[in-house]
Amino acid sequence: MCGITGYVGSRQTDDVLIEGLCRLEYRGYDSCGIALAQKNGKLYLNRVSGRVQLLKNQVKERPPQHGMAGIGHTRWATHGAPSEENAHPHTDCTGELVVVHNGIIENYPGLKENLIDSGHSFRSETDTETIVHLIEAELKKICGGSFRKKAPAETLERNFFEAFRRAVSKLEGSFAVSAIWSRCPELIISARMHSPLVIGKGKDGNFSASDVSAFLKYTKQVYFAEDGDIAVIKKDSILFYDFKGNTLERKLTEIEWDAAMAEKGGYDHFMLKEIHEQPAAVENTLRGRTMPMDGDFVIRELGIPSYFIKSLEQIQFVACGTANHAALVGCRIFGSFGIPCFAEFASEFSDRAKMLNGKTLVIAISQSGETLDTIIAVREARAAGAKILAVTNTVGSTLTRESDYTLYTRCGPEIGVASTKAFLGQLASLYILAGHFAVIRGTLDDSQAEEYAAELVKLPRHIEKILADEKNIRKTAETFSKSEHFLFISRRFNYPIALEGALKIKEISYVHAEGYAAGEMKHGPIAIIYPGMPVIAIAVSSENLELVNGNMAESKARGADVLAIVDEKSAAIAKAAHYIKIPYVPEIFSPMLTVIPLQMFAYYIALSKGCDIDKPRNLAKSVTVR
Ligand code: F6R
Repeated sequence: MCGITGYVGSRQTDDVLIEGLCRLEYRGYDSCGIALAQKNGKLYLNRVSGRVQLLKNQVKERPPQHGMAGIGHTRWATHGAPSEENAHPHTDCTGELVVVHNGIIENYPGLKENLIDSGHSFRSETDTETIVHLIEAELKKICGGSFRKKAPAETLERNFFEAFRRAVSKLEGSFAVSAIWSRCPELIISARMHSPLVIGKGKDGNFSASDVSAFLKYTKQVYFAEDGDIAVIKKDSILFYDFKGNTLERKLTEIEWDAAMAEKGGYDHFMLKEIHEQPAAVENTLRGRTMPMDGDFVIRELGIPSYFIKSLEQIQFVACGTANHAALVGCRIFGSFGIPCFAEFASEFSDRAKMLNGKTLVIAISQSGETLDTIIAVREARAAGAKILAVTNTVGSTLTRESDYTLYTRCGPEIGVASTKAFLGQLASLYILAGHFAVIRGTLDDSQAEEYAAELVKLPRHIEKILADEKNIRKTAETFSKSEHFLFISRRFNYPIALEGALKIKEISYVHAEGYAAGEMKHGPIAIIYPGMPVIAIAVSSENLELVNGNMAESKARGADVLAIVDEKSAAIAKAAHYIKIPYVPEIFSPMLTVIPLQMFAYYIALSKGCDIDKPRNLAKSVTVR
């Protein structure tokens, strides 16, 4: 997740762009940059590796710019490490065209290869740079080889639009992209496909940005661009087109948010916003990495040799907290394909590390990529000869530098301390990896792989359905808001989700909660059940459903107030006082869904207790101490 911004109008363009980037820094802040048109037909371009303040210092000395178009970007790296070369805006070969982009261009390797073959030279490792060279190539075609010829402003603008339109029509993946061309210094063109883009209509000019927080200081009048929209933005006009060049009508909306609400997309807390971002986060994780049609799993960037995957004797997961719960699900997914797996808290790993060898792959899972316990575990595993695969959300993090291979979860920055969307991204990554490994090891044949991938790509829609049940989940949570103890139980794939449900309550509501393997209840924990104690059971369809049902009955018999997370098929079987119903999926995929109501449940319990949800007491987002 990056932030893009753009402005054309009579205000000082530098100031508006820098102000917008400061507001968008929550979307990513490893590098940033701006480009703006000068009156002499040239461009100013400034990029820095680091925060917006550095950029501000760099541009503060230059003469005021009014009336000229400008675009800006604050980056959260996905393709290429955080560096000045990879920072946006990116320029074409002539240095006259610039673009900023948020999203992932899936088909960029092929496009880039063709562009290089036809003489374009690339200066960054980003997927974004492909877009600007594509616009350049189209512009050259339209202008008959060279676009340096003099022409009336109207013709130049028409050509720029046409080149931009043709270029974005060739892109696959997700993008909110804005471009300027020094020959049309008062024009910004933006487009949207699966990444947010809003266009602001102001008194002193117009705006384009990833979200309204970038320009809320200047206007509350916005157009929310839709997928497949192109916006042509000038000082006094905003026009919308589709990718075929037909004009579109878009409704102007007056928004009522203040700046803090705008950053949170109108939600009260980042945690709730991030819970709602999960369908998009999972789509981003899966994008370009599953090919359901041919039953194969393609992870272009991973590069683990097939012979190593085939000869692997074991997989060892290491992680902490929520990431460790993803690891426990991972063990069960890989295990179901016959691959021996172990998971260990990174902080408890030392003794196991000594037992590893070159036939072990260690999968280290970490949202931040900076958790010291996980990094130390990786160092110990390496010393024993194991290969390391990092599954992380953070490009260029310490973990990636200390690993042999990396799979990025691509969820965008997670700001709420309690991990939600990063967890879903970790799970989705593990499904991709397990499918990929199983195909290579021959435990998943083509048609099974096709089915597996088809189920995976349906998950974002199922998650949306659960999110739409928010009111009901909230009401259920509120009935438990005075409880002082919670017990979460389940079996097999959902045992780690019981642990995660309990962790979410503990960390944001400060209430005692335990997660237990349901089968363990009779071996001790059942003694703690008292009349009215909440027992939350994940009781989705599986061969173990009757057993979970039995555990719920045992709890109920001792007075527990049982809430069951059920699916469309298990609802008729599971017996409880309260239910939250989710869509049915095969058991192996159910953790991706069962965790969603539990995140919301924890959120609404914390809300009714008035807790500081995004910054819970005693916790930090990144734990860099042992
Ligand atoms: C819980 C939570 C923590 C982290 C843990 C590991 O909501 O966020 O338990 O999961 O500190 O952090 P990362 O994934 O950054 O290594």
